[in-house]
Amino acid sequence: MAQFDLIVIGAGPGGYVCAIRAAQLGLKVAVVEGRETLGGTCLNVGCIPSKALLHATHSLHEAEHNFAKMGLNVAAPTVDWAKMQAYKADVVGGNTKGIEFLFKKNKITWLKGWASIPAQGQVKVGDDLHEAKAIVIATGSEAASLPGVPVDEKVIVTSTGALSLDNPPKSMVVIGAGVIGLEMGSVYARLGAEVTVVEYLDAITPGMDGEIAKSFQKLLTRQGLKFVLGAAVQGAELTASGAKVSYKLRKDDSEHAIEADVVLVATGRRPYTAGLGLEALGVEMLPRGQVKTDDHYRTSLPGLYAIGDAITGPMLAHKAEDEGIAVAEIIAGKVGHVNYDAIPGVVYTTPELASVGKTEEQLKEEGRAYKVGKFSFMGNARAKAVFQGDGMVKMIVDAATDRVLGCHIIGPAAGDMIHEICVAMEFGASAEDVARTCHAHPTYSEAVREAALACGDGAIHS
Ligand code: NAI
Repeated sequence: MAQFDLIVIGAGPGGYVCAIRAAQLGLKVAVVEGRETLGGTCLNVGCIPSKALLHATHSLHEAEHNFAKMGLNVAAPTVDWAKMQAYKADVVGGNTKGIEFLFKKNKITWLKGWASIPAQGQVKVGDDLHEAKAIVIATGSEAASLPGVPVDEKVIVTSTGALSLDNPPKSMVVIGAGVIGLEMGSVYARLGAEVTVVEYLDAITPGMDGEIAKSFQKLLTRQGLKFVLGAAVQGAELTASGAKVSYKLRKDDSEHAIEADVVLVATGRRPYTAGLGLEALGVEMLPRGQVKTDDHYRTSLPGLYAIGDAITGPMLAHKAEDEGIAVAEIIAGKVGHVNYDAIPGVVYTTPELASVGKTEEQLKEEGRAYKVGKFSFMGNARAKAVFQGDGMVKMIVDAATDRVLGCHIIGPAAGDMIHEICVAMEFGASAEDVARTCHAHPTYSEAVREAALACGDGAIHS
């Protein structure tokens, strides 16, 4: 029986990062992963392949719409789908191999197979039993199913199938206007599909600042995406040419149907813990299927921890990574901590949408007095130079102290720029602190500074 200080179950961003940090802290570590490659959903069928397709199709859009404006005359671009898929596979392969390299470098053992936990301190992989002083569940999540919508991953697909369609469809219905729906909807709209997003709520991107969500929807509509809001999907069925989705409008209960070549179900994900044997061990679970943990990621079974999508909180790779580092530090006897008030969220469309901290709606509900500073990218020279003058930065600060409480950006490289505000929030900075920090010109980041200035005496370029 092999013995380890730590066995991590799952090699996604939560699990592999946890393993690396634990090895760096001197622990003898193994990771159990049943996929052929490391990296979990994120690297194999999530964040990374979708970014490859977003990049490729954004480039197509640039060639079709902006090249000629810059005096670049090229023949109308055509799409070689097989080659685009191969490019995507290369990107994924490079990254998953990279994790394998990091495992070797850090002397982490990869136990190939699917794990179960037969008893406290034990992990079974195939016929082999291993012992560990600590076990971390980092098994992630799977696409949640929708009653009456039978997924075949060919015509009715989840994000996994949507990344590897046989051909780009001419029409697509996306169920759910969350992150997956909008990213993949953008990909196929740029490839020429007529994309209709059917969403239960009255706004897209649930939980996002209301004003930002509205303006994001306008931008996406201009790009050709259609939205049916306030619509509860009742079911879907295969037809001769694709699939038919039926939905009910919530305002008047009227029933409608829409047909498309492909239907993407993007109505959320649920924790994946099947096969671990947690029930038999009596590990406490939460009603929505997450493993119950305390502030130190401890489950109800001594020595068993859980992180990432398998526990509560936003289902984001970087949240899982941070928890992976924190739990490794805790297991190694150090102090590990995640600040859940400063976790950014990004939608990688063009323009990008990035957000951290409080929305106006949340602050109103809390009854907290706040001020808002806004700046449009139309006033940002760099953004205009690259045809990205759409969007804005919206900063929200405490009315009395000027402390930054949240920031919401629609614009070029928003997903990178948001970190300036994450750092500001970690340091308890005020808008004035951000405004008095020199920002290079010409950069997109100047728009963040302008929004900070708008919280005080006013932005310069608006
Ligand atoms: P989501 O939770 O972001 O959005 C699902 C949407 O579906 C919601 O707006 C919901 O109201 C709607 N919906 C649910 N049932 C419906 C019905 N019957 N009819 C119509 N609409 C319905 O879920 P999504 O987009 O599937 O993403 C899953 C998870 O993966 C999320 O936690 C997301 O944060 C994460 N993710 C993050 C990415 C990123 O950070 N860029 C990229 C992709 C996924």
